[in-house]
Amino acid sequence: MTESTPRSFDVLILGGGSGGYATALRASQLGLTVGLVEESKLGGTCLHNGCIPTKALLHAAELADNAREGAKYGVNTTLEGIDMPAVNKYKQGVIDRLYRGLQGLVKSRKVTMIEGTGRLVGPDAIEVNGERYTGANIVLATGSYARSLPGLEIGGRVITSDQALGMEWVPQSAVVLGGGVIGVEFASVWKSFGTDVTVVEALPRLAPNEDEALSKGLERAFKKRGITVKTGARFSGVEQSEAGVKVSLEDGSTIEADILLVAVGRGPRTQGLGYEEQGLRVDRGFVLTDDRLHTGVGNIYAVGDIVPGLQLAHRGFQQGIFVAEEIAGLAPQAIVESNIPRVTYCEPELGSVGLTEAQAKEQYGEDKVKALDYNLGGNGKSQILGTQGFIKLVRVVDGPVVGIHMLGARVGEQIGEAQLIVSWDAHPEDVAPLIHAHPTQNEALGEAHLALAGKPLHAHD
Ligand code: NAI
Repeated sequence: MTESTPRSFDVLILGGGSGGYATALRASQLGLTVGLVEESKLGGTCLHNGCIPTKALLHAAELADNAREGAKYGVNTTLEGIDMPAVNKYKQGVIDRLYRGLQGLVKSRKVTMIEGTGRLVGPDAIEVNGERYTGANIVLATGSYARSLPGLEIGGRVITSDQALGMEWVPQSAVVLGGGVIGVEFASVWKSFGTDVTVVEALPRLAPNEDEALSKGLERAFKKRGITVKTGARFSGVEQSEAGVKVSLEDGSTIEADILLVAVGRGPRTQGLGYEEQGLRVDRGFVLTDDRLHTGVGNIYAVGDIVPGLQLAHRGFQQGIFVAEEIAGLAPQAIVESNIPRVTYCEPELGSVGLTEAQAKEQYGEDKVKALDYNLGGNGKSQILGTQGFIKLVRVVDGPVVGIHMLGARVGEQIGEAQLIVSWDAHPEDVAPLIHAHPTQNEALGEAHLALAGKPLHAHD
């Protein structure tokens, strides 16, 4: 910062992660002056400790599987080993390129970066390093942190995804506490790297936020891969020594391993930032807003993981764009939370959008909902890839498709069309005449809609 750094902006944003920087980019595009306060690195969790590094690890994991299984396809390869420092170098290279690009982008849009830890000190003011900055509008985007359980201290061999992403070695064995998104993605990476993995999930199924069919399919696939899955299993404690960890469950059993990964959810980063003092409504750490993302205080908005709902980077991007447009007076359309696409990048992948079958039945009534499973066994490209799985469609009888749930290698790439179908309230009969290229996995989405419209092609009636 220099003497000439402006102190007052149209939009002042606290936090430069996905939600914060998207707000900044869109607001500056709309001709507003923007200040962006960031204490660490522009790009936040997604770029530096979340989405991007994890997906790089998952790509390396896929290559490891391919090397191990080459002979199945007549290509004689063997997996000699995993060089974690080299994997991390590749991963860091991806982050560095994106980080440089993002810094350049923000600079080119004339956003003023304010480095340091900010604190809300008034309905229009944030203090950073003892300096007061003001904004006609304030946007809070302080993100989330890896939570633990009461009494479960992180340290040594008990880690969260933050430490797991920086590991320079492959554990021989690992216990993953929590079978949600982070849990199943790390379980998948480590299994591909040769680790003996046990997933411990308190609820009755893996990926419990997904449609039950996806949970069951994933559990079957994980078991086939040799991942031990313990559902309905409650953690009671952990002891660690020089050699490893001993994890105890409430049923009295114990599991020994090199490390324990704690993946029991992410908490909102809102403590000690002055939010409650300024009169914001905070519930279990989350900042409450209306559906215009307004907090109800002054001109203060909130976006991203601190707002209750799906903690996903693309939700943060969209909320950021929304708030910038709202401030600029463009009256954007409110975001429909259930239309936010979800992809979990384990092997096999999960992709979903809209309502689960259970949610649809609750919303529309038991007999007003029809579900259909299209097995990837009938899809040429999936057979070529050697993957198993299915696409499950949920429709309202004589009405639109309200949920699409997919399981199988690479199915996350199909989420684009799936979200158009659900967001545009398409009926299966609208999708059936649209042509899907052969042989692609995308074709399976087309065929599932053909089947639901009553004219299945590569499927038994
Ligand atoms: P999560 O909420 O998805 O999963 C946490 C899991 O831990 C739940 O299934 C819960 O039942 C279980 N759990 C809680 N307490 C437990 C206990 N005492 N014993 C055993 N199991 C217990 O949270 P996760 O996986 O930590 O991810 C955090 C956030 O990050 C999520 O909201 C997720 O959406 C986001 N994320 C998204 C990714 C993606 O879109 N591909 C990738 C990674 C994270």
